[in-house]
Amino acid sequence: MTLTVRRQQERRKAELRAAMEAARATTLRLLERVPDDFLKRRVHDFYSPIGWHFGHIGMTEESWVCTQAADRPCLDDRLSFLFANLPENPKDGRVFLPSRDEIGAYLAATRRSALATLEEADLDSPHPLLADGYACEFARQHECQHQETIAELLYLIQKERLSAEREPPDVAPLAAGQAPTPETEMVAIPGGVFRMGSDDRHGYDNEKRAHEVAVPSFRLDRTPVTVAQWLSFIEEGGYGNYRWWEEEGFYHWRVRENITCPEYWRRASEGGYYAVSPDGLRAMHPEEPVFGISWYEADAYARWAGKRLPTEAEWEFAAAFEPRARRARRYPAGDAPPQPHQADFGLSAGFPCPVGVHPEGASAWGVLDMAGGVWEWTASPFLPYPGFEAFPYDGYSKEHMDGRHYVCRGGSFATAAPILRCSFRNWYVPTYRQGFLGLRLAADGPAS
Ligand code: AVJ
Ligand code: FE
Repeated sequence: MTLTVRRQQERRKAELRAAMEAARATTLRLLERVPDDFLKRRVHDFYSPIGWHFGHIGMTEESWVCTQAADRPCLDDRLSFLFANLPENPKDGRVFLPSRDEIGAYLAATRRSALATLEEADLDSPHPLLADGYACEFARQHECQHQETIAELLYLIQKERLSAEREPPDVAPLAAGQAPTPETEMVAIPGGVFRMGSDDRHGYDNEKRAHEVAVPSFRLDRTPVTVAQWLSFIEEGGYGNYRWWEEEGFYHWRVRENITCPEYWRRASEGGYYAVSPDGLRAMHPEEPVFGISWYEADAYARWAGKRLPTEAEWEFAAAFEPRARRARRYPAGDAPPQPHQADFGLSAGFPCPVGVHPEGASAWGVLDMAGGVWEWTASPFLPYPGFEAFPYDGYSKEHMDGRHYVCRGGSFATAAPILRCSFRNWYVPTYRQGFLGLRLAADGPAS
C-alpha cells in the first residue's frame, strides 16, 4: 500500500468511526430512557421487546463488520442467536433478555470488535462489504433505523401506561372547529424526466439502480396534512363512511379493529383529543402534521379530501429534482444533510413541530417538510427498481417486495440525518400505523 493510499484510508476510517460514534451516543441515550419494567416486555404484537432492539444493533454490527466482512469469530453465539431477526427466533422467545447493564456491555464489546476490525481493514479491497467501509456504513444506518423503532416503542410503552392514568388537569384537549383549518396550498409541478433512485455505494439495495422516469404534470400539497384537518375528517364521519375506503381496509381492518382516530390520540371525556407522548399526555398543536395512521386511513382521507396520495416517483421528483440544473439533489435543500434550522428530525423533541416552519429546507420546487416531520405514505407498492440486486441479504429488502407493502418517504421527527436522503425508501403493510407516519396529498394536472 502506498503512503497516499494509506493516508486516504486513514481519513476514511476516521470518518466512519466518527459516524458510528455519533449514532451510538443516541442509542445509549435511548437505552437510559427505557423504564425498567418495560425493558423485556412485549407491548405490541408487531414488535420485539424494546431491550431486544439494543442487542440487535450490536449483533448486526458485529455480524457484518467482523464476521461477514473479515471472517472473525463471533463473540457470543448465544447472544448472536438471541438478537437475530430470524424465523427460528420468534418474537415471543425474545423476552428472555440479559439485564440493561449486560445489554450495554454487549453493545460496547461488539463495538470494540468492530472498531478493531476497521482498524486492520483494507478499504480498497474489492470485497463488496469491505470496499470503502461499506459494512460500517450499513451498520450505522441500520443502527439509526432501529433508533426510530425504539422511539416508536417508547410511544407504545407510554400508551399502555397512560391508558390507566387519569386525564391531566393542566392540558387542554383539542377538538374540531377550535382552530381554523385552512386548505393546504398546492404547488404545480410541470412534468419532466429525472433519474429516480441512487447508485451511491452507501445507499441501500432498494434505491438501486438509478433509472430514468417520466413524471407527468401534477400538483402536490406544500405541506403534510395537519391535525386540524384530520379532526375535520373525523368530525365529518370519515372513519364511518365506507365510500372513502378501500373495501379490504374498511371491512377487514377499520371496522374489525374499531379504529376511530390515529394511534397516539386519546379521546378526552369532555370531547376532543389529547396526544400520547413519551413524556405523558400532551396538548396537540392544530398545525402539527398528523401521524400514527395506516395506509388505509391515508388513502381514505385522500379520497375524502378530493385528492390522492402521490406516487413514489412524484414524491421523489418533488423532493429531489432541481429543474434549473436538471439533476437530482441528495436532500431536498441541497447535497448536504439537513441542518436543524432546515428540518424537524433526530428526535430534537418528542413529537413533530408544526408544518411549514422550515422554509429554508424547501425543495427546488418550494415544497416544504420533505425531510423529517412525518413519514409520508405514497400510492406505490414497494417493488424493485430495474436492475435491482439484493444486497447484503435477501431479508433486507427483497423479501418485502411482495406487492403487499406500501412505500413511505421523507423521514420523521425521530429519523436520524443519514436516513433523510431523498432516495430513501421505507415500507410497511397497509394496516401498520405504529410508526411516525402521516401523509401529503397530490392531484393531477394542470394540463400543460
Ligand atoms: C425498513 C423500517 C421496515 O425495521 O423492519 C431494520 C428496517 N431492516 N433491520 C424494519 C430494518 C432490518 C425495516 N424497515
Ligand atoms: Fe434490524
